[in-house]
Amino acid sequence: MTPFEQLNQKLQSIADIRGSVSLLAWDQETFMPKGGAAKRARHMSTLQGIYHKQITTDANDLLKAVEDAGLDGLSPRQQLNVRQLRKDIDRLTKLPIEHVIASTKAASEAVHVWAKARATDDYAMFAPNLSQLLELKIKEADYLGYEDNPYDALLDTFEPGMKASMVENTFNSVKDELRELLGKIVAQPQVDDSFLGQDIEEEKQMAYGLAIAEQLGFDTATGRLDKSVHPFTISMDSSDVRITTRVQLDDIRDMLYSTVHEAGHAIYEQGLNGADYGWPGSESCSLSIHESQSRLWENNVARSLPYWKHHFKSFAELYPDGLQGRNPEEVFRAVNLVEPNLIRIASDELTYHFHIILRFELEDALVNGRLSIADLPAAWNEKVKSYLGLDVPNNAQGVLQDIHWSHGSFGYFPTYSLGSFYAAQFMAAAGRDFPDLQGQFERGEFGPLKTWLNEQIHDHGKLHDSEAICKMVTGEGLNVKYFMDYAKDKFGRVYGL
Ligand code: CO
Repeated sequence: MTPFEQLNQKLQSIADIRGSVSLLAWDQETFMPKGGAAKRARHMSTLQGIYHKQITTDANDLLKAVEDAGLDGLSPRQQLNVRQLRKDIDRLTKLPIEHVIASTKAASEAVHVWAKARATDDYAMFAPNLSQLLELKIKEADYLGYEDNPYDALLDTFEPGMKASMVENTFNSVKDELRELLGKIVAQPQVDDSFLGQDIEEEKQMAYGLAIAEQLGFDTATGRLDKSVHPFTISMDSSDVRITTRVQLDDIRDMLYSTVHEAGHAIYEQGLNGADYGWPGSESCSLSIHESQSRLWENNVARSLPYWKHHFKSFAELYPDGLQGRNPEEVFRAVNLVEPNLIRIASDELTYHFHIILRFELEDALVNGRLSIADLPAAWNEKVKSYLGLDVPNNAQGVLQDIHWSHGSFGYFPTYSLGSFYAAQFMAAAGRDFPDLQGQFERGEFGPLKTWLNEQIHDHGKLHDSEAICKMVTGEGLNVKYFMDYAKDKFGRVYGL
């Protein structure tokens, strides 16, 4: 066997381990009996340990042999795979194992304290844990290395190649326009969505959600849909992708948009290149590109008027009163209602971005020592007031609301908004390639868009970073103009601006 073939074989067996961990994680969140929790944690951490060791030692040695032999005899795609694998392994080997263990331990303690602190609205209880996690993250940035902002190193974990300065510029260029649009919206009479608040039984909802997911391109030959407390997507590899949703009996929007969002993630995973199994070419590019795919289907497609023109009839049939006297435009408005909310995950498509912008600004200030943990709640409340116009009544509904910081996930939040911005830009490019795209939606034809995404984005896997993919697909780097155009157009129509 050539060095490349040996490495290929090794990477495939490492991917087998990783896929098994994914399946255990899926089962843990869906069907595992409560009693299985302790042993399951063991199963998973043992396998993860084996995975980490094999990738950083055996695979690393074989990779060196491939590099020593030279890449000339390899195909262009194989060369990209080798180069990306080098970056991934270097990243994994930069963190000393003691640091990884200390971080895991600190996070598992912090998450329990955070849950208690949130339940009792006691920020002071959580503050020491948060301080410890922040210190560990700053140390981690030092291990990983950065040029001028330690936040870059943390961001890079979720968003390879992205810089804090680029996020800052992006957010700054969208902030004022977004605030202006929100100001106009809240001055208008609120949209009526009361007619959607009727009970629809769970079985009916789940069957409907699956049918919609399939129609958009989710393939049940390589995927399945189940229920969980928090919807998620887990993939063993492109041939087996699991999604979950949740059901609120008196508001089917919760199930519908959770399902479509996760189906968007799953269509991406199912579209990855299975022939590169074990290699970066079979992995997703980054969290923001992942989120661009879920949000594209959720917001740009399934919250559009053409979508509702096609789906109104079958949707109305789910309701006991058949939505008599209502029309597609009214449903379109009701699923796009905008209202500032204290809670990020309860927020609409538009005001959501202020939640992300304020978290990014606070994280960057914390990591760079411009803000102390003690002053964080006051800084949080001030930003919520300034961006959303809301008074934060307590820390439970303020700074303590998200689980992310208790996991030590700093640098993660920006990927959500970047996902929306990339989604709008991709849709604009798709609209140039298919001038009748909206007409396709109105006729219930979603296959052309799905195939286009497969070819333009999914097939590249992790062989290029987010910005490079964006340039290849749209001809330019991230440009928030597309998101603002889309938002002004859509919400202008919803609120009659
Ligand atoms: Co998502």
